Amino acid sequence: MRGARALSQRMPADTNRRIAVLISGRGSNLQALIDACRDGRLRAEIAIVISNRADAAGLARARDAGIDTLTIPHRDFSSRAEFEAVVVHELRERRIALVCLAGFMRLLGATFLDAFPNAILNVHPSLLPAFPGIDAQRQAWEYGAKLAGATVHFVTGELDGGPIVRQAVVPVLDSDTPETLAARILEQEHRIYPEAVADVLQEGWTIVGRRFTPGQ
Ligand code: GRF
Repeated sequence: MRGARALSQRMPADTNRRIAVLISGRGSNLQALIDACRDGRLRAEIAIVISNRADAAGLARARDAGIDTLTIPHRDFSSRAEFEAVVVHELRERRIALVCLAGFMRLLGATFLDAFPNAILNVHPSLLPAFPGIDAQRQAWEYGAKLAGATVHFVTGELDGGPIVRQAVVPVLDSDTPETLAARILEQEHRIYPEAVADVLQEGWTIVGRRFTPGQ
């Protein structure tokens, strides 16, 4: 979001509920979205799953669910903009309304961000704005935080810095390792990501300044 402004009614009445999920690895958040679509918690269609890595385990989860997949290796392109132009082309071809990053390990540049204004979400394993960047769960553990959590936020040009849609808090236990803490946070990611996607697909939400408010 650039500057303070109110955005609302982005979705037309015949709401387009076609979403894309971009992954680079394991795909457990992708699975959470698949499961939520299946059991009706999320009224959306995952129209395509795109990975920048051919060996991403999440691709098999998508195929198992009968979802189309594409691998677009970023290394095949000489610049970020060229890579993103191809991804954007594929998303536009499929009339994607909302892009969900789920462990997609590439920073997005202007080519992508400008093509999907206010229509890209990410899930991050910390209570932003604390601990942006990689290995956020370990960062929180090493810092000695007593509370940690997960955040779903809009993606902007600032790393892990866009308006927050949903957050969840978990305790950091004295007995935790970075791994046990990460597992507790991941459970919450899986819960709040489908909820946040539903919030954004629902008409009437606004962002004023940085503050996201869902539609009624
Ligand atoms: C998650 O912890 C997510 O918060 C972070 O990357 C991880 C992806 O895990 N952005 P998965 O591929 O969804 O299992």
